[in-house]
Amino acid sequence: MESLEGLIVAFNNFYSGKKVLVTGATGFKGSWLVLWLKKLGADVHGYALAPNTKPSMFEALNIGNQVLTVFGDILEREKLQKTFDDFRPEIVFHLAAQPLVRLSYAEPVLTYETNVIGTLNVLEAARKCGSVKAFVNVTTDKCYENKEVAKGYTEDCPMGGYDPYSSSKGCVEILSSSYRRSFLMKEDGYAMATARAGNVIGGGDWALDRLVPDCIRSINDGIKIEIRNPVAVRPWQHVLEPLSGYMVLAEKLYTQGIIFAQGYNFGPDEDSVLTVAEVSKLVTEYYGKGEVVVHKRDDLHEAGLLMLNVEKAAKELEWHPTWTARTAIKETVEWYRRFYAGEEMNAFTLDQIEKFERERK
Ligand SMILES: NC(=O)c1ccc[n+]([C@@H]2O[C@H](COP(=O)([O-])OP(=O)(O)OC[C@H]3O[C@@H](n4cnc5c(N)ncnc54)[C@H](O)[C@@H]3O)[C@@H](O)[C@H]2O)c1
Repeated sequence: MESLEGLIVAFNNFYSGKKVLVTGATGFKGSWLVLWLKKLGADVHGYALAPNTKPSMFEALNIGNQVLTVFGDILEREKLQKTFDDFRPEIVFHLAAQPLVRLSYAEPVLTYETNVIGTLNVLEAARKCGSVKAFVNVTTDKCYENKEVAKGYTEDCPMGGYDPYSSSKGCVEILSSSYRRSFLMKEDGYAMATARAGNVIGGGDWALDRLVPDCIRSINDGIKIEIRNPVAVRPWQHVLEPLSGYMVLAEKLYTQGIIFAQGYNFGPDEDSVLTVAEVSKLVTEYYGKGEVVVHKRDDLHEAGLLMLNVEKAAKELEWHPTWTARTAIKETVEWYRRFYAGEEMNAFTLDQIEKFERERK
């Protein structure tokens, strides 16, 4: 939204001066979110493990020098509680998780501990601290039982998940629903919603086994891009899309309370569904180099298409997808191109955020 002077009034200036804690602040989505909240004038603190990729978005944006970040595990209850008690946040965005499907097959215990028990610890720390009014609990579209059908999943579809990661996030949804009814519907409770978004792309993701980061790595290493499953179709959205949804949701939870304490889907339009082959080809086109080849598949189960129905977010939150998948890929490639050309990325990332704010629907 633009003011008369042409300045963008993002999120009605709601975040200015708000105390916000972001778990998972050293991760890909967390770093983008922290930078955006800082831009909006929020007082932001982070809680997360040290960055586990090299490079990392946290370091590329120099978040450590901009925001007090406590390096801690969400399984360390005392340290987590102390972080909440010292800072006394009003708003929590909980993003800390083990988010990788393929790693969840190798590390199922770590995945369930981090995602399920870790989330319970964060919910408890927020309740005991007493300062929290709004809590956005980030799960995923994979929390739904994937019936491999072409229709978009609505928020009341059954939870499930084939692989340990998806199932752990389905568990988080069930846990969150119980936690809300058992502990949060009281005077001293807070408004907590779960946010379900799908595959996101954007600059600064160096995680393993994610398509766009894999493509970028191969291009920069001067090797062919190997794709496992060229015909697999997925919905694609830029990281700023779900983050804008989380931020609208937190504002509603804060200002209007428990009527928004539910699950919300944040996904792209139907025309943002592209095959793995199409995405990797677009990456090479926008980058101006790179070659795609099909590599033999392994036997790990990979889910088929999973689309979200986003009518509830449109109706209740007035949230709508902004960029198409093609724009998202183009912006993402531009980010990496500049990073690998040695550009300072804080300013360019802020430019991309501002562009998104201007174009936001
Ligand atoms: N990236 C996607 O495509 C996508 C899609 C849907 C949902 N999500 C969800 O969004 C959230 C963020 O994902 P991301 O892509 O930024 O992942 P990421 O791996 O880049 O970041 C994960 C963050 O969690 C932190 N973390 C992990 N284990 C922790 C622990 N035990 N204690 C404290 N912190 C811990 C890491 O330090 C990091 O800051 C996750 O909850 C993920 O499930 C991501």
